[in-house]
Amino acid sequence: MQLSDKKATLSFSDGSAPIEFPVYQGTIGPDVIDIRKLYGQSGMFTYDPGFLATASCESGITYIDGDKGQLLYRGYPIDQLAQKCDFLDICHLILNGDLPNKEQKAEFDSLVTHHSLVHEQLHFFLRGFRRDAHPMAVLTGLVGALSAFYHDSTDITNPHHRQVSAIRLIAKMPTLVAMAYKYSQGQPFIYPQNDLSYTGNFLRMMFATPCEEYKVNEVVERALDRIFILHADHEQNASTSTVRLCGSSGTNPFAAIAAGVACLWGPAHGGANEACLQMLEDLQANGGVAKVGEFMEKVKDKNSGVRLMGFGHRVYKNYDPRAKLMQETCKEVLASLGLENDPLFKLAMELERIALEDDYFVQRKLYPNVDFYSGIVQRAIGIPTSLFTAIFALARTVGWIAQWNEMLSDPDYKIGRPRQLYVGPQVRDVPSR
Ligand code: ACO
Repeated sequence: MQLSDKKATLSFSDGSAPIEFPVYQGTIGPDVIDIRKLYGQSGMFTYDPGFLATASCESGITYIDGDKGQLLYRGYPIDQLAQKCDFLDICHLILNGDLPNKEQKAEFDSLVTHHSLVHEQLHFFLRGFRRDAHPMAVLTGLVGALSAFYHDSTDITNPHHRQVSAIRLIAKMPTLVAMAYKYSQGQPFIYPQNDLSYTGNFLRMMFATPCEEYKVNEVVERALDRIFILHADHEQNASTSTVRLCGSSGTNPFAAIAAGVACLWGPAHGGANEACLQMLEDLQANGGVAKVGEFMEKVKDKNSGVRLMGFGHRVYKNYDPRAKLMQETCKEVLASLGLENDPLFKLAMELERIALEDDYFVQRKLYPNVDFYSGIVQRAIGIPTSLFTAIFALARTVGWIAQWNEMLSDPDYKIGRPRQLYVGPQVRDVPSR
């Protein structure tokens, strides 16, 4: 963080003396006004519900330019990363600051691979859930429970412990997600297999049974790996901020990540791809492409309460760069599985075509987001809709743990403690009873 020559001055209409604040510059993106001394000097707080204009931390991990439609991990554009790297390259990059060289890659991949088994007792813990429990309920419980099994990596002041927890979480998440799925199906858990890639192993744990050999489909493996890459980190979103806030109390990393999983579950965050697929299926059942025009009229009618799911984003006011990559992957997967004529994909393309030409969407800068195509890909792969958010959590774990680690490594870090504007009753006496 670098001090700028610029300063910000806050003046008051009641004649109080103005206050000057330092301004800091990042490497790219908006400058920030440092208001840490505001309360001490003025006795006032700032008011910013939803953090619309508040930078809660400094971070060197991910950068988003919503107007340009740009997403960078550690400075590298997402499209280059998605085309040239696999998910474990991205995990190394996000965790350690740069892409691994050949030796580092071999070492890192082996480290993650050799941490993918979970404590056998976790199987019994999982068996306490109902078979029809939502996978995110199961995952929140399982991730939180890890802290009861891995005591030897919970000293957050020890950088080695933090590193081991990070690897454990990244390595065990696919095992836990696959276990949650297998349990819901009444099928036996499949143990990890170390000669497969991270994503190939996950596919096998999801879809193999002990009755026959399972061969990983390379196109499907690449597609899912790309979904993981595109969801690995996204700056200070709700679940990441949750992990930071939870972790700022000094709690152990498994507890902090469980809080992130719980936050991601919400439909305004990780649950949107499920909602998008639901919208496409409903539209298909009610006339398909022929009814797209009618549907779009409803979307534009504010009284209908209908939104085009998978469109629009709080930060991106241009095409979400992840949506372009997802569309490409979608085409590839459908072609490889002989589903080129998939009606939902055709419907999605038609909705996108109309929306991009329509004034309503153009004026409001509404473009497809990553969720517009990812549900179609996951459905084609055979992943049930209820598991979509758990897949997102699996991929986002590296971002959460890297952001948590970055916070703890910052010598200036403090417990997160927002203030409030109190609007409740004045002091009053309890009446005699
Ligand atoms: N369909 C129709 N109209 C929309 C849509 C949409 N998907 N998104 C925004 N609008 C309209 C709003 O009605 C509003 O119109 P107005 O100015 O006439 O009142 C305008 O565009 C601005 O919308 P806001 O809701 O104020 O924008 P905000 O930045 O708060 O919302 C959000 C972003 C929540 C993502 C919104 O675009 C949305 O609901 N999209 C659909 C859900 C979705 O796909 N979410 C996934 C996000 S990506 C992710 O979480 C991984």
